[in-house]
Amino acid sequence: MRRIFVAGNWKMHKTIAEAKELVSGILSGLGQYDNVEAAVCPSYLAVPAVSELCEGTPLKVGAQNVYWEESGAYTAEVAPQMVAEVCDYVIVGHSERRKLFGETDETVNKRLKAALKAGLKVIVCVGETLEENEAGETEKVVTRQMKDGLADISAEQAMDITIAYEPVWAIGTGRAATPEDANHVHKDVIRPLLNAQFGEERGESIRIQYGGSIKPNNAAELFSMSDIDGGLVGGASLDAESFLAIIKAASKVLNG
Ligand code: PGA
Repeated sequence: MRRIFVAGNWKMHKTIAEAKELVSGILSGLGQYDNVEAAVCPSYLAVPAVSELCEGTPLKVGAQNVYWEESGAYTAEVAPQMVAEVCDYVIVGHSERRKLFGETDETVNKRLKAALKAGLKVIVCVGETLEENEAGETEKVVTRQMKDGLADISAEQAMDITIAYEPVWAIGTGRAATPEDANHVHKDVIRPLLNAQFGEERGESIRIQYGGSIKPNNAAELFSMSDIDGGLVGGASLDAESFLAIIKAASKVLNG
């Protein structure tokens, strides 16, 4: 059975009070779309308050990053066990982390392993920049990010992973990839890599989200594609109504 997973990445937006208001709005409209898996990823500080409000509801909560050490002298970092206390999910390797904060495929892999060990489900982001896209390097870049980012992960561990394909040029620009182009990368680049590493049965069941300017008006078209199993939504997840509209679109696609 096809499953669609829609996650909201709130990035560095929303105070604790605003986060509580936003999640309350999302929760009040979510009940009707219970065939869709949904999650929100607030900033670290807002996570406990949002988690408390989501308890006993189908809405899952994720953090936007995690460190790989279990504890120690790592000022300002947050350990996997700390995240696991209040979250189901964590995002690793977001392009903003790669571009602005020195994230590499190697550190993505360290975070991924540590997060899985702590029992978290992990959304691993990959995606090419505009320059790489224009140079025809999408496949090469995404393949490297997948291979190095997922190095040494077992087939069993892979069941807790979601891949988010987020072409960097589509993030926050209002210029989403076309459903066909995104599906091509999911189906012909990412899926075969998953199948090769984890075996076909498991590879086929791993969800591949698309991310980059998903909006209520393009969500249904994207989610209708064969290998787009959901979305990682930035800007449009900061408003309850538009995030719910995207979840509704997913629900409709599933209902045929
Ligand atoms: P966007 O962000 O939906 O605002 O383009 C997506 C993301 O960065 O995860």
